[in-house]
Amino acid sequence: MLGRALARQLSRPEGVLGRIVARLMNRFNRDMSRMAIAAMEVARGDDVLEIGFGGGASLDPLLVAAGTGKVTGLDLSETMVLRAQRRFAWAVREGRLQVRLGQVEHLPFAGESFDRVLTSNTIYFWADARRALAEIFRVLRPCGRLSLAFSPRSVLERGRLHPPGFILRDEAEVLQLAKGAGFVVGRVDRHEHPARGFVIIAADKPGRAG
Ligand SMILES: C[S@@+](CC[C@H](N)C(=O)[O-])C[C@H]1O[C@@H](n2cnc3c(N)ncnc32)[C@H](O)[C@@H]1O
Repeated sequence: MLGRALARQLSRPEGVLGRIVARLMNRFNRDMSRMAIAAMEVARGDDVLEIGFGGGASLDPLLVAAGTGKVTGLDLSETMVLRAQRRFAWAVREGRLQVRLGQVEHLPFAGESFDRVLTSNTIYFWADARRALAEIFRVLRPCGRLSLAFSPRSVLERGRLHPPGFILRDEAEVLQLAKGAGFVVGRVDRHEHPARGFVIIAADKPGRAG
């Protein structure tokens, strides 16, 4: 079982230890990140939001995929926000990337601001998942897509990663929550592995009727 201090860092990496954890997350979550971005099917010119970018490994490929579109990163951790602002100073300067402090339950964006939303390994920290998904639904444009990546309860309970304080959810529950928020689930990708398995749910906001 992971120690409480490390679990706290994963939920909100802060300070020197937070920066070390950020590097570890970038390495450990590489495959999940790659598959979650592929499931988004970002087109050049899309405006993309990543919620809980942590170490920021996904921001680079998102900037490439979005081309002339804008990428926005939002995270609860001031340390991660400052780190990303430094690391991607060139993209911030060029107006291609905005990095903001905030939380998924109260997204500081107008409705219908984004074509794509990515969030990976953050659902464990959503005390109010209904509200979080309603917020994501609100900021997505019609026909926009959410790519939500996480390790399900079965994996986290079985594997070495059994972090105290994490809210564990199984795939069926997350699918239900996404549908309840109004999403239409398009595809579900599964990476089967006893200790490091994960699920990626691609959920679409319907277009305007008529
Ligand atoms: C375990 S890390 C995952 C980082 C990255 N997405 C990855 O998969 O490697 C979780 C990140 O989400 C952020 N976070 C946690 N709860 C959040 C919330 N309610 N709203 C926004 N960000 C949150 C944390 O600060 C942290 O940077």
